[in-house]
Amino acid sequence: MAILVTGGAGYIGSHTCVELLNEGHEIIVVDNFSNSKLESLKRVSEITGKLFKIYNVDLLNQKGLEEVFSENKIEAVIHFAGLKAVGESVSIPLWYYHNNLTGTFILCELMKKYGVKNLVFSSSATVYGSTNQVPISEDAPIGAVNPYGRTKQMIEEILRDLYISDQTWSIALLRYFNPIGAHESGLIGEDPNGIPNNLMPYISQVAVGKLQSLNVFGSDYSTKDGTGVRDYIHVVDLAKGHLKALGKVQFSKGVDAYNLGTGKGYSVLEMVKAFEIASGKKVSYTITNRRPGDAAICFADASKAKIELGWVAAKGIHEMCEDTWRWQKNNPNGYEEEQDNLIEHNFPVLTSAADFLVSN
Ligand code: NAD
Ligand code: UFG
Repeated sequence: MAILVTGGAGYIGSHTCVELLNEGHEIIVVDNFSNSKLESLKRVSEITGKLFKIYNVDLLNQKGLEEVFSENKIEAVIHFAGLKAVGESVSIPLWYYHNNLTGTFILCELMKKYGVKNLVFSSSATVYGSTNQVPISEDAPIGAVNPYGRTKQMIEEILRDLYISDQTWSIALLRYFNPIGAHESGLIGEDPNGIPNNLMPYISQVAVGKLQSLNVFGSDYSTKDGTGVRDYIHVVDLAKGHLKALGKVQFSKGVDAYNLGTGKGYSVLEMVKAFEIASGKKVSYTITNRRPGDAAICFADASKAKIELGWVAAKGIHEMCEDTWRWQKNNPNGYEEEQDNLIEHNFPVLTSAADFLVSN
């Protein structure tokens, strides 16, 4: 029996694949590579020494996805696949709603048809909107403030309705805080397209010399140093949280939301300093205006995940910065440049014949 990982080639998905394989799970990855490269999965194979099936299939392609279910024995699904750029979701909301919601409908229909009712879903702390009530617990009011966040909020509600309609489902809604860092091997990490929107990849590209200077969005918040505070969580800790959630959904029914964060908040300037220490590089920055829609402060009450899943984040801010830096300096251009070499070396990844990629 295998775990189906949708969006497994992406940043969080690839790190979760490593942890699943290391724990002895059989995995199957489905991805349309709209925001990722096959190279990340080759490196998952390199890190773990394990083989797994990869389907180049879009979740919107029902026929293609059904082949995945009919060809394999699937026991549970971890559903990462989705579009995630907040600004882009404001510009092209219909595409975000279609991709994220319709993709989830098609996936759940097939899960139902094939009797697979264990699901771990990638939600986000963004569902809490811009509350300043911290720490944020799972019963805090929900109110996403952009189309991306609303796709997560809507999917959570849809999955709750699905459970009400059929209580043989078991669903974990994982609300991630701010994932950063990379696998300690330096082989996989975050590979954003173009100029990064998020703080950590931006800082690391300044440190490596690809970008000149960080814009710090506001220094007049009522926080310790006036800059925004977030709950940064190491992506490997986050990946391990998925294995704990998988254990829960496989052995009990229900639908539950869990915050995955550390419970600690760091300001933008603290992150700059921590990164300078970890990398030994100077990170130049300029204070600019606030970014519209940003909350001053956001960090998790992660006690529910500790009590019910037995999960706590173990890695601190220094390790997050060190691992980000190792990934960044070993891969200054992300996955792209290395692709040919690795193909020449013929890394042992199975790619299924199924290829029903729908072009957008
Ligand atoms: P990512 O973009 O690196 O990974 C998402 C993967 O899904 C990509 O490989 C992409 O190609 C694939 N994908 C997108 N639409 C698809 C479709 N229709 N069919 C098949 N594959 C598709 O993003 P990530 O950072 O790894 O995030 C994973 C999940 O976690 C996403 O759902 C995201 O919204 C959520 N999340 C991310 C963050 C974050 O800060 N990274 C925070 C909270 C929640
Ligand atoms: N920031 C800067 N300069 C930058 C980028 C960010 O000062 O160039 C600041 C922001 O103002 C904020 C902090 O750094 O105070 C973190 O910003 P990010 O963009 O890295 O992260 P956000 O907290 O805004 O949002 C991220 C994801 C969302 C997700 C949310 C919670 O982008 O999709 O975390 O998981 F929903």
